[in-house]
Amino acid sequence: MGGGPVLKRALEVVRQLGVADEDLCSSSDPVSAPGSPSRRRTWVMLQRRAPHGSSASPARTVKPMETFDAIRARRNVRAYTDRPIPPQDLDRILEAGRRAPSSMNDQAWDFVLVTERERLRELSRVWRYAEHVAGSAATIALVLPATEDRDERDIRWFDLGQAAMAMMLAAADLGIGSSHAAVGDQALARELLGLPEDRECAMLLALGYPADRPLRPIEEPARRPLDEVVHRERW
Ligand SMILES: Cc1cc2nc3c(=O)[nH]c(=O)nc-3n(C[C@H](O)[C@H](O)[C@H](O)COP(=O)(O)O)c2cc1C
Repeated sequence: MGGGPVLKRALEVVRQLGVADEDLCSSSDPVSAPGSPSRRRTWVMLQRRAPHGSSASPARTVKPMETFDAIRARRNVRAYTDRPIPPQDLDRILEAGRRAPSSMNDQAWDFVLVTERERLRELSRVWRYAEHVAGSAATIALVLPATEDRDERDIRWFDLGQAAMAMMLAAADLGIGSSHAAVGDQALARELLGLPEDRECAMLLALGYPADRPLRPIEEPARRPLDEVVHRERW
């Protein structure tokens, strides 16, 4: 593979990031990105990681997924191994939530990270379908200001949903499973998490490495068909 010094440097960086030779796109045809999926992926990595010939900083512990693969691989995982999640990966997941967009950039959310086993067990009692929280490696409590205002509530829940999805995708990207759990017993959640009176725990996000099967893109998800869901131009 030939190419100029900039491309050579970029390829060097990509190799340091652990990309196999066969994944690299041809230097004579760097814009061949829209070709095979592996080429597209590498080109995305080149653009993302080495935009100005920067030196490689291996911030990741695993080989990253392509965004669309993470979207297709994410599913609700409710059974976890005992393996703890490295703190830097938890921070990365939380950072994904922090970066989520919100109406008027309000960012009305707070995230409480829980990793202590006993607290996780207690937390799993806040809702009948929150049992998986007990065995999670970590659970993030998604907290909102308590409000009776319907419009404000709707908007903040929408915002929080985006933050939750960003965190779940960041987790999937790291091979970490996630699952929501709703909160029924607000008083118990508030007590366990030490929330102020003017806050409520909207949702729990349990995290852990899947005990059943690793996260892989799902070919046929349990979803309504695209043709049924999508209305083009008009309903
Ligand atoms: C608002 C909301 C609340 C949810 N609450 C729970 C819950 O309390 N317990 C649970 O196990 N899963 C909960 N889920 C997960 C859904 O059951 C799950 O997203 C759905 O079944 C699709 O699963 P899949 O993404 O694995 O296909 C919730 C999801 C959402 C979006």
